[in-house]
Amino acid sequence: MARRPIIAGNWKMNMTRAQAAQLITELKPLVADADAEVVICVPYTDIDTAVTLCKGSNIKVGAENVAWAEKGAFTGEISADMLLELGTEYVIIGHSERRQYFGETDASVNARLKTAIAKGLKPIVCVGETLEERESGKTDDVIETQVKGAFDGVSAEDAAKVVIAYEPVWAIGTGKTATSEQAEETIKAIRGVMAGLYGAAVADAVRIQYGGSMNPKNVKELMAQPDIDGGLIGGASLKAVDFSQVVNYKD
Ligand code: PGA
Repeated sequence: MARRPIIAGNWKMNMTRAQAAQLITELKPLVADADAEVVICVPYTDIDTAVTLCKGSNIKVGAENVAWAEKGAFTGEISADMLLELGTEYVIIGHSERRQYFGETDASVNARLKTAIAKGLKPIVCVGETLEERESGKTDDVIETQVKGAFDGVSAEDAAKVVIAYEPVWAIGTGKTATSEQAEETIKAIRGVMAGLYGAAVADAVRIQYGGSMNPKNVKELMAQPDIDGGLIGGASLKAVDFSQVVNYKD
């Protein structure tokens, strides 16, 4: 089964509304003919602006997190209903920066994922090992624990529609990309974990992105790998030309 490539920007904590509007206005014509699915995941405060400006274009808008609870006393959290009301389509869950700085665990990632699915948001679930874990040969174990933890209690039908982003922590924002062989090997292992959980058809259908210093220079080689179905792009998504070159990696 052919999996449609998906290139998603992750703006992180960058871009005021005015800056967001400028970037999106510049970006739209540059990616209008893309074969890949194009997503920008933006700060909550930019979502309204982004959805308005992306209307009628091929750019879809995502959030960078979502609460597991439906509503209530959760100071600082944003619910799925709030995101959906603004026209948000995708949501990043379990990014390593959330795990590292804000105490996210496999259990909280799982809870957020189940809520996103139940509400009809399209999740991009992030997994990835630290440098220490890679160097001590633990990458596959770490990935397996994270994937199993994230998908606990998720049905096969729902799991097939989730996008997974493999992001080695040591490659994020460091300029150090995993080699295409390293990325392919681990993404293949993730597909193997999905096959173990859900069978071959789901493992074959699920789209798995690479993330970590993906840029216009290395995107082609990474995307040429058979198991890599797209990218989650941080730094290079903050400039329209750079992000468009990643999106249009085939040109
Ligand atoms: P980067 O970030 O492209 O700046 O390395 C990727 C990410 O964290 O999603």
